[in-house]
Amino acid sequence: MTNHHFVYVQRSFEAIRPIAPVAADLFYAKLFDLDPSLRSMFKGDMKRQGALLMTMLSAAVEGLDDLDSLVPTVKKLGARHVGYGVIDMHYATVGNALIYTLEAALGAEFTSDVRDAWLAVYSLLTNVMKQGAEEANLAIAA
Ligand code: HEM
Repeated sequence: MTNHHFVYVQRSFEAIRPIAPVAADLFYAKLFDLDPSLRSMFKGDMKRQGALLMTMLSAAVEGLDDLDSLVPTVKKLGARHVGYGVIDMHYATVGNALIYTLEAALGAEFTSDVRDAWLAVYSLLTNVMKQGAEEANLAIAA
């Protein structure tokens, strides 16, 4: 994970921002296509859910320059996801849906460098979320 990665991700996210609601729709359609069993985990309005996802992604992408501040927020997000029924293997499916969405939304701008950068950032975010989930589970077990 390098500053190089951050710049690619931050720049490409700027191109997504104006079409965030469309990107969110595309993301959930792909996610439920990849794994229809995930559909029932989402109880609320999907437009609102899409907006929450985009807001959180935006905060995470902007926060990459200051990881010390970002980590506690992302850990808490991971801990809340335990309560939504999310388990580790779901993160790979969500990652695939995210990469698909970025590719569809960015077109030719989604170069292999941009892809590698998003993979590195997604892996960082999910590792921190899983760590937050594990700490929450340990706290429950204690
Ligand atoms: C980088 C990865 C992810 C991000 C940024 C993210 C972001 C969010 C946000 C912002 C919320 C709103 C509620 C809250 O803040 O606690 C949420 C809820 C939720 N997320 Fe995620 N999420 C991620 C990964 C996942 C994965 C892997 C799954 C597995 C299917 C998942 C399933 C859910 C569900 C089921 C809800 C609750 C929906 C509801 O209450 O109807 N998320 N997520």
